[in-house]
Amino acid sequence: MGQAGLIGFMQVGIVMLVIGFTVLLLMVQFELGPLGGMSTGKKWLLSLILGSGMVAFSIKLFVIAMLVNFPEHTIRAQLAAQSVRPAVLRQPAQVARHDRPPSVRKGYVWRALPDVAPSPAWNPTTPEKVALGERLFHDKALSIDRTVSCSSCHEVRRGAGMDGRRASLGVGGQLGARNAPTVWNAAFQSVLFWDGRAASLEEQAKGPPLNPKEMGMPSLEAVARRVREGEGYREMFDAAFGAAQPITIDRIVAAIAAYERTLITPDAAYDRFVRGDESALSAAQLRGMELFQSVGCIQCHSGPNFSGASVFDPPPSPQRLFPVFAAQKYADRYSLTSDVGANVPGNKQGVWRIPSLRNVALTAPYFHNGSVDSLREAVRIMATVQRGREIGNDANGNRRIVWSKQDRTIARVGSAPLSESDVDDIVEFLKSLSSESLALRNRGS
Ligand code: HEC
Ligand code: HEC
Repeated sequence: MGQAGLIGFMQVGIVMLVIGFTVLLLMVQFELGPLGGMSTGKKWLLSLILGSGMVAFSIKLFVIAMLVNFPEHTIRAQLAAQSVRPAVLRQPAQVARHDRPPSVRKGYVWRALPDVAPSPAWNPTTPEKVALGERLFHDKALSIDRTVSCSSCHEVRRGAGMDGRRASLGVGGQLGARNAPTVWNAAFQSVLFWDGRAASLEEQAKGPPLNPKEMGMPSLEAVARRVREGEGYREMFDAAFGAAQPITIDRIVAAIAAYERTLITPDAAYDRFVRGDESALSAAQLRGMELFQSVGCIQCHSGPNFSGASVFDPPPSPQRLFPVFAAQKYADRYSLTSDVGANVPGNKQGVWRIPSLRNVALTAPYFHNGSVDSLREAVRIMATVQRGREIGNDANGNRRIVWSKQDRTIARVGSAPLSESDVDDIVEFLKSLSSESLALRNRGS
């Protein structure tokens, strides 16, 4: 109803009020007045008192009738009209893919990897230290039988920073228990190792030399002695740490860590895309990127290093349960629960540091035990055991219709299964996290 309806309504009200007031006046003049023996002045006073009460009452009735019949004239309607932002109404129906469509609320912000990794104040990254660290990283003298260097398991010059084996080979051909993660971009992680037991690269680097299955050295002092004996190291230490400073294990690991802080890959197609090159990702990769977000992979693999256990945002918990959802077929096939990581032994669910997904397409096999060879399968497992999603082309999957007899409401619970082509799209997106220079080097080797 509009303005005309309102005026008509008011006219009827006023006519009714005039009639009512006239009836009241007649009643007081000819009935109540003579009955009470009132003077003319008193009769008019009584009419006035009763009449004003009637006017007040009809004003109340009028307001109530207004609210019920003409909500468009009330304050609530005014407020509601104001909250419709004109900017939203003006948005064109078609939006470019980089613009925020009107219906999308501001959410997860994608970021590129910085060009420099942060270093602690007490171990700034200098070219001299990096050169020394690079030599130490490739030096087999750091192992008991001089056959194994850090790079034996973390191929950085020709490979993607790991060894491509399920579990690593250490001194004497011994097989370790876990898969070697890549050292590329480890500089951005807030905690290291699959279970997150090391808090810095410096601390981490003291581990492998003493591990009997890796480099097998009897003590850290024995490692320092080997370095002191090495030709040319004295000059390199002088350049890196100042003349005649003793060669200690702390300076050795400081140099190795400084070198590792240069092993970063901000040159993925994803980074180019986020920095503004819209042609950097294919249509499938864009679909995969959206799925990575909507399926909830970003809950754990967040930030520029695709790991919540990174230096970018203080992690609420760098370690997570894995598997979260019981998925017996995967747990059995790939022995996902025999090692429980940082968890108390005996508990079925393991606790693991969230790994970075940068270069993940180049670093098969996957998971802490290296049990999965294909990235597709790793994505299927993750969607199932971490997000509770089924994989398949059945549109309904485990979704159920739930009718509540008591509330008389109906709802569908559970989420739709991911189709195989969704899995393909996520894999395509993960490929966009590969460093373009590393991928080239890998192809050449
Ligand atoms: C025999 C193979 C082997 C050797 C030698 C070796 N590593 Fe590792 N490295 C591994 C394995 C396996 C892991 C994972 C172990 C775990 O998480 O329990 C690992 C983990 C790491 C990590 C953690 C990466 C991450 O994302 O958490 C870094 C960094 C690293 N190694 C650097 C080094 C350095 C530096 C050296 C030399 C001092 C070295 N490694 C020697 C096999 C090796
Ligand atoms: C609840 C946290 C969480 C969620 C959600 C999650 N992940 Fe993971 N992801 C992890 C953890 C923890 C690991 C390490 C598992 C292990 O110990 O092997 C991992 C490992 C991986 C790996 C293997 C990495 C490697 O180098 O071996 C891939 C690939 C992966 N996740 C992809 C995904 C994808 C894709 C999604 C979304 C469908 C996803 N993740 C959702 C926590 C999570």
